[in-house]
Amino acid sequence: MICIAVVYFSQYRGHTKVLADAIQKGAETVPDVQVVSIPVDNVEQHWDDLHQADAIIFGTPTYVGSIAAKFKEFIEKLAGEVWLKRVWTGKVAGGFTVSAGQSGDKLNCLQQLVVFAAQMGMIWVSLPVLGGKYSTKGGDEDINRLGGYLGVMAQANIDEGPETAPPSSDRATAEIYGAHIANVARELKEGRRALQSDSPTDFVGRPKNLPETFD
Ligand SMILES: Cc1cc2nc3c(=O)[nH]c(=O)nc-3n(C[C@H](O)[C@H](O)[C@H](O)COP(=O)(O)O)c2cc1C
Repeated sequence: MICIAVVYFSQYRGHTKVLADAIQKGAETVPDVQVVSIPVDNVEQHWDDLHQADAIIFGTPTYVGSIAAKFKEFIEKLAGEVWLKRVWTGKVAGGFTVSAGQSGDKLNCLQQLVVFAAQMGMIWVSLPVLGGKYSTKGGDEDINRLGGYLGVMAQANIDEGPETAPPSSDRATAEIYGAHIANVARELKEGRRALQSDSPTDFVGRPKNLPETFD
């Protein structure tokens, strides 16, 4: 099986959870894929799921133009052993965020997730869908209506609950992203399996000749 973990924080209106659910739904359309969805508050019960996952998709609302403090707290827990021993190196990574503003400074939030993934030695996957709403023919129903590519960017009105916000176009965008990451993870895992004997990386994608860590 290909194991995908979605780890997210969602507090204010539950909007980020809506995206996490949509990403899970999309990923589960790919054969041989199983998804574990982890609210960051429950992470202590899920470290094994995260360490064993083939792909990890990170979700946080944009708070004050940044990843939310609770999500940063989770990230900083990884700055010790997991980072040092390159435990997540070679895993596939992706990210999603939502804000009230059309921009909301979401790009900064996704960039923080990309840098984190890079520090862990992960392989970041972007959103492959062409941006929508580029002309008078476009609209809010378009997939990737906000025209971002680093990951999923969604927008949710602050006076709407998770029943209606973010809107269906953003949910559909998240589903496509979930399926795309699951496909990439599957291809990578199968490719690594096929190439295991002569590949410079081990089965999970870590370089075989990693220097000793300095512990
Ligand atoms: C503390 C806080 C800071 C926020 N900062 C921003 C911001 O910088 N830009 C923005 O557009 N929306 C901002 N928002 C709105 C949230 O990003 C938005 O409501 C989001 O959908 C909340 O997701 P959640 O319900 O999963 O927590 C902020 C909300 C809160 C509670």
